[in-house]
Amino acid sequence: MPKTKVLAKGKATAAARDRSIALRVNGRIVEVRTPPHRTLLEALRDAGFVEVKRGCEKGDCGACAVLVDGIAVDACLTMAWTAEGREIVTAAGLGSREAMHPLQRAFVERGAIQCGYCTPGLIVAAQSLLAKTPDPSEDDIRHGLSGNLCRCTGYAKVFEAIRDAASEMRGARRRR
Ligand code: FES
Ligand code: FES
Repeated sequence: MPKTKVLAKGKATAAARDRSIALRVNGRIVEVRTPPHRTLLEALRDAGFVEVKRGCEKGDCGACAVLVDGIAVDACLTMAWTAEGREIVTAAGLGSREAMHPLQRAFVERGAIQCGYCTPGLIVAAQSLLAKTPDPSEDDIRHGLSGNLCRCTGYAKVFEAIRDAASEMRGARRRR
């Protein structure tokens, strides 16, 4: 059989393994064509959600964290297809420049951002923590951020920002 025909058959087989999945990201549906082994990190970044950072790609740094149904997960350890039908929120999806989320604002105001590479993951981890623990102790924050590495800030300003945001969010809940 001519070589070209063999190659064509191989391509067809690989293409058949791909499938289209619909991810709900920051409130909108994103269609992604993906092989089964593709991670959520790769799928999100290819779809333009570059606020989801590629760090260690082995679950150590937390730079790739996103909320899946309100829980922070490492997108680099999550197969894209397993997130189909779930609610995915990235750090950018929590608020906008005009209407910032309390965590986004507190990180800026406290100077908890230096190079910023870890910041989206830290904000996602903090949101996941505050959803469960609205008034976190020092230890709660330590535990909540235990999967996130930051090389720049020394964490003190990050902790202050999370406490500020927690206080603002509790106040907003009381006023409702
Ligand atoms: S890139 Fe996912 S944990 Fe580091
Ligand atoms: S601000 Fe640079 S790694 Fe955290």
